[in-house]
Amino acid sequence: MAKETCLALVFLFMSLQWVRSSTVDPPEKVTVTDPGHLGSLHIHWGPRLHRARCSVLYEVHYYDSSSSKWTSIRTSLNSVTAQFDLAQEVKVRVYTVFSGECVEGGITRSQNYTEVVQKPDRRGIDCFQAVTCVYFNMEHLVCHWKKNAEIPGKAQEKLYYWCVYVQALLHTWKGWLVAKDYRCLKHRQLGHAKECPRYITSGGERTGCIFSGIDIPTFTDLNLCVNASSEQPIRALYSTLQIQNHVKPDAPTQVSVDTAAERQLKAHWNSPSGRIPHHCLLWQLQTSRNGRNTFSLIPSSDATVMLPLPDFENICLKVRSKLNKYCADSGVWSDWSPSVCYRARGREKGDVFLLV
Ligand SMILES: *[C@@H]1O[C@H](CO)[C@@H](O)[C@H](O)[C@H]1NC(C)=O
Ligand SMILES: *[C@@H]1O[C@H](CO)[C@@H](O)[C@H](O)[C@H]1NC(C)=O
Repeated sequence: MAKETCLALVFLFMSLQWVRSSTVDPPEKVTVTDPGHLGSLHIHWGPRLHRARCSVLYEVHYYDSSSSKWTSIRTSLNSVTAQFDLAQEVKVRVYTVFSGECVEGGITRSQNYTEVVQKPDRRGIDCFQAVTCVYFNMEHLVCHWKKNAEIPGKAQEKLYYWCVYVQALLHTWKGWLVAKDYRCLKHRQLGHAKECPRYITSGGERTGCIFSGIDIPTFTDLNLCVNASSEQPIRALYSTLQIQNHVKPDAPTQVSVDTAAERQLKAHWNSPSGRIPHHCLLWQLQTSRNGRNTFSLIPSSDATVMLPLPDFENICLKVRSKLNKYCADSGVWSDWSPSVCYRARGREKGDVFLLV
């Protein structure tokens, strides 16, 4: 008898749990607002739900049309900020998640979601194709845009930017390491989108922007918008980039080759000076022997490499650099250093000639 009561209680308890967990509703209202930050949108939902013995979380899914992927995050807050391409459809879904004793298994998500879809303004001529930027030696940021078609009439192109950056300027060794996961650090942002400080013109037309006189912090999400006003509407181009992934170091200088002990040649060069921490650099060496080129990567940040001493042949080498994977996800190779040659003379004395 006692056993039956117990089973009945368990059954009742389970069905209660089922009823409870199946009634998790998604948030009633979701809104997406544009604060004018060129693609960084605020997603807000409510009203907040309460359930005894549970904490309420929200799961936000948003669609990134440039990579055709959904991104999802869970938060206990009522709003998040996410990055979108404003030239594409904006799609956001929010679920409610209960976690705690009020639900079986400790965590339950609402079956449905509340969705917001915003269609982009597709009116107008599609004049702009892409913006590309290079951050020269982490000192000067230069961006260019490519066009599909000429801007009609006398309209002038304009570039606007807005950025999120980490509060501390991260020049220290430790700071740089932490900064790869820089979302953990405190963020600051520009209040409003600003216009390009100095345009690059070619044949009387604007083709790019030099961000001179602006201190661009090392780790920045930079949102860009290129647009133009004319009698016919022109579609704006939006782009977002993490500027540490667009760094092009200066070419290495002072390349030298010397004979070293144990039948070896020692090649040495100087790292580019400036804001790039030395441990962030990776080298590529090109060696030429008898007109044959070989390329090798030198993953260490030491600006030195040992090579076997050639017996009778001459050897020339040059080197270039790039940011390594510990400091950036991608980068631009520097220009090559001047080429330097070692002339083997039947191995009497290791004479070194510099050919520039
Ligand atoms: C889920 O939500 C969407 C809109 O948010 C609605 O159109 C759809 O009917 C809902 N589905 C169910 C099964 O309730
Ligand atoms: C260009 O973009 C800026 C920044 O969003 C905006 O203030 C401006 O009105 C836009 N101009 C045109 C012609 O759309």
